Amino acid sequence: MASKNTSSYRVDAAEHRRAETRDERPSFRQFNLADAEASLSFGAAAGRFTAMNILIAMVRRLDPSLASWLVALSGGRMSSLFARLMRLRRVAGAMLARDLTPPPPVKLQVETTDVCNLRCVHCKRDKLDEMNTLTMPLESFARVVSDVAPLYVNMAGFGEPLIDRTMISKLALLHRRGIRTSFPTNGTYIRRLKREGLAVELPDVLQLSIDGATKESFEAIRKLGDFDKIIDNYRAICALRAEGKTRRGTVIRVLCALQRGNLHDYRAMYRLIGSLRGIDSFGLVPVSFGGANAAQMPAPEEVLALHRELDVAIAEAQEKAEKDFYRQWRDVSAQWLEPKNANGRNPEPSRAPCTVPWFSAYIDAKKRVYPCCYLTGSQHVMGTLGEDGGGFGEIWTGARYRAFRAEMISARPALAGCRTCPRNDARVLSTLEKLRPLLPRAKS
Ligand SMILES: C[S@@+](CC[C@H](N)C(=O)[O-])C[C@H]1O[C@@H](n2cnc3c(N)ncnc32)[C@H](O)[C@@H]1O
Ligand code: SF4
Ligand code: SF4
Repeated sequence: MASKNTSSYRVDAAEHRRAETRDERPSFRQFNLADAEASLSFGAAAGRFTAMNILIAMVRRLDPSLASWLVALSGGRMSSLFARLMRLRRVAGAMLARDLTPPPPVKLQVETTDVCNLRCVHCKRDKLDEMNTLTMPLESFARVVSDVAPLYVNMAGFGEPLIDRTMISKLALLHRRGIRTSFPTNGTYIRRLKREGLAVELPDVLQLSIDGATKESFEAIRKLGDFDKIIDNYRAICALRAEGKTRRGTVIRVLCALQRGNLHDYRAMYRLIGSLRGIDSFGLVPVSFGGANAAQMPAPEEVLALHRELDVAIAEAQEKAEKDFYRQWRDVSAQWLEPKNANGRNPEPSRAPCTVPWFSAYIDAKKRVYPCCYLTGSQHVMGTLGEDGGGFGEIWTGARYRAFRAEMISARPALAGCRTCPRNDARVLSTLEKLRPLLPRAKS
């Protein structure tokens, strides 16, 4: 999914309110946390005068991103903070020790349905087997959540989450347990779900996909999508939040997968995002070769022509926010000019460490467990929930997962998918190294 190389802007909520009264465009601010996963809000309980919120407010003054993690960790409750810190300490200890049987993951990504109503040209779902078959039953979902007890669940895969008629019950189940939630949507079913109570169970991060800022480009990319209807739906959910009718403390962000068909939408996108009023951040991600057809990747000369246009747009823009928006468009598209990312060519094999298989897992709608959502080939299936009596724990500590982790440590370039993935957790591990005295000792 689209979280590699994502860059984002933040639209300040107070600025929004001022802009609404002045009928002006809101200003975009650089958003420091790198991706949707990290764009955590300040808690479901935000605004109430509790010990937890006072602590969060104090930490927030020191470091906003640390405060976000504190909220994610505590689920907004002081009582769970200590237990969760201890849990994270064990996971961090296992990551540092490169333990092949780490404690259960703190994050899950779950494809709650593999059914989708659209056929986007850049999406890899048509390359996956047996799609459009299944929505994960609520009972199976509840069982895995109860087995793993994650701190954060992202309900994202290669289907449309809001097609799932049990989505609101799934969200309610997670929220009752103080688990952070997020999912992306193509927006088609927001109105239907709104009637069924989506607003009160809105996830902590709701990601609205907009891969085209005009009817023409949007509908050419998001095949079978209706631009006017979807943008209306987005306006409706943003309006509900502005009226204070949604779950407290939620973040609404837009994600655009940049590609040949929307390369020149920068002005239209800036206007569209501004007109939505209530968007917290805007992320732009270049379509990844693994998912997109080669036809969606712009050639270097197209990118250079775009940059000439963007230079003019940046020079002409009156507001800093607009200049920054176009600069970001330039930076993201510039990644296609790097020889290692050029159309059709794979990057050099990476030997950098990746800690994902120590703290997170991806489960598809057929209950197959994978190390992450970039690895969806049958060779990457670590096990299937419920098969041979296997629960998550057996799969997580089973022979296949252990072998995968061992290979990640010693021979990442030999791992298909991982060899070309940009993930590099060298900094994470060096930070953990400094914390070593606080972490549990490695198993002998
Ligand atoms: C795979 S979709 C699943 C959720 C939902 N159906 C939707 O479209 O939002 C999640 C996000 O991934 C993006 N995406 C799909 N294929 C991609 C690719 N090859 N490269 C980058 N992003 C991609 C989509 O545009 C969408 O914003
Ligand atoms: S709506 Fe989402 S899952 Fe469906 S085809 Fe488009 S990107 Fe893929
Ligand atoms: S290196 Fe492999 S496991 Fe790690 S994020 Fe990339 S594809 Fe996933």
